[in-house]
Amino acid sequence: MTADPIWRGFALDAETALALLDWQREMGVDEPMLDTPVDRYAEAARAPAPAAPVPAAAPRTGPQTAPQTASESDTDDLPARAAALASRAETLEQLAAAVESFDGLDIRKGARSFVFADGNPAARVMIVGEAPGEDEDRMGRPFVGRAGQLLDRMLDAIGLARDAVDAERAVYITNVLTWRPPGNRAPLPAEIDAMRPFLARHVELAAPDLLILMGNAACQAALGRQGVLRMRGKWATAWGRPAMPMTHPSYLLRTPAAKRDAWADLLEIAARLSA
Ligand code: URA
Repeated sequence: MTADPIWRGFALDAETALALLDWQREMGVDEPMLDTPVDRYAEAARAPAPAAPVPAAAPRTGPQTAPQTASESDTDDLPARAAALASRAETLEQLAAAVESFDGLDIRKGARSFVFADGNPAARVMIVGEAPGEDEDRMGRPFVGRAGQLLDRMLDAIGLARDAVDAERAVYITNVLTWRPPGNRAPLPAEIDAMRPFLARHVELAAPDLLILMGNAACQAALGRQGVLRMRGKWATAWGRPAMPMTHPSYLLRTPAAKRDAWADLLEIAARLSA
């Protein structure tokens, strides 16, 4: 649910503003923005459209297709556009700049930060998460909220750390989406498809020995399928590299009983790293 700009036209003191916010929260408003931002200035400036003359009925000839508007005819093949941008990036810095410039996803407009990656790009292990949440959006780094803290503890348990300088002990972390979806909703299939070429190039440039796919969005992006509860614990191959699907740390926070399986998966990863 999104907030209505009911404050327009009011001069608000702090107390009234707080009361309004409380009221909106009680009403279930948990997002100040819609998926697609509305430009109210443009709306106000727009003159009411003159009534269109009713055209004389034309004989129907052949199949009717909806006329394409300018924006529809411009509607690009987002994965193809992402792939073209990604293929030109020769370094991680160039890739980050290319992804940041990609204007194909509406979530970009509502996000505070562009969240590309964290950790040591030389690491043997690359982790792919889902998307930035509220904390990540605020800090501009992946996995810094509660799920991220759990992830750090999980990694520590097998001797890995995102801030390790030594590539043997380090991890490199990214997400399928580089912008926070509103209300922390799950990434849409079209968003995953659009960002997949960037992720593929990201993996290629970072060249880790193995991938950890945290949750369904990462599995969808890397393996083309979901069902992490079935897939976890079994090695798969993504972009030519071994990939271990695991349940997402957010799921583990909600379902502590699943930590036992996650621990088994971590041990499997540690064994592969030391093999
Ligand atoms: N969950 C994710 O998948 N990624 C983050 O960066 C934070 C939470």
